[in-house]
Amino acid sequence: MNIKELTLNGVSKLNEFNIDDSTTKVRILLSSLLNVSKEKLLIMDEEVDEKLVERFNDNINKLIKGVPVQYLVNKQSFYGMDFFVDNRVLIPQPDTECLVEEGLEFLKGKENAKVLDLCTGSGAIAISIAKNSDATIYASDISKDALDVAKLNATTLSADITFIESDLLKNINEKFDLIISNPPYIKTDVIELLSDEVKNEPILALDGKEDGLYFYKEIIKNAKGFLNPNGKLLFEIGFDQKESVTKLFEEEEYINVYSKKDLAGLDRIVSGEKKGE
Ligand SMILES: C[S@@+](CC[C@H](N)C(=O)[O-])C[C@H]1O[C@@H](n2cnc3c(N)ncnc32)[C@H](O)[C@@H]1O
Repeated sequence: MNIKELTLNGVSKLNEFNIDDSTTKVRILLSSLLNVSKEKLLIMDEEVDEKLVERFNDNINKLIKGVPVQYLVNKQSFYGMDFFVDNRVLIPQPDTECLVEEGLEFLKGKENAKVLDLCTGSGAIAISIAKNSDATIYASDISKDALDVAKLNATTLSADITFIESDLLKNINEKFDLIISNPPYIKTDVIELLSDEVKNEPILALDGKEDGLYFYKEIIKNAKGFLNPNGKLLFEIGFDQKESVTKLFEEEEYINVYSKKDLAGLDRIVSGEKKGE
């Protein structure tokens, strides 16, 4: 069988099971299996050996079962870098890049700034900030498995980060100029309704408990003790959480509270600052 036939077979099998973006997924899989770029793959028409066909078909079956293609190829691009991902971490999403942008904007011109990426997962936010600022970066997560992935990414991408295993702020002993976080924010009873692909991601990374706001409440209440005066707490939020999270900031008397939308026009960021002393 040649590459073009293999591609067509894969796409038609995925289409049969109504899997979204079938062509893209097949191309990502094949370029990974053949270790060539997606551009090069498009002009290739070589015969492939039986072993590769077997591995390809095995991966197609996993896609049909809802395994995200990023877990199969152990790769997701984020902020211009390739991150290793597997089922120990949430796959970093393009929407989260605007959180990184906002964090970097705040750090501009600040010397010796200290940053904490709380709930770091794959380390995508922490590493993107480390590679694009002079700040000293810490990153924490409750999941040792996630921290192992984040450490691997920091090593591969040569980012200097201090990792801390911690249930939210419990094991944190520093003060920061910026605490940035994309915490779990999906309501528990909505998780069942999500696509199989999302449900293959760690439940610990998704579940924002009954009202989806558990982590915002906890972090907003406690973060003031971990922020320097005029320090900023910057969150990614779900598209329908702007009002609730803004209110939580205001109730805890943060200042300069504002929200921003992502490129799709959905509310994506809410931020507040600790009063100066
Ligand atoms: C939505 S994921 C975000 C991952 C990454 N920051 C990103 O944006 O791609 C949330 C992360 O929070 C972590 N987490 C869940 N509960 C936590 C807790 N109590 N304390 C610290 N981290 C927690 C999960 O392990 C997961 O890695």
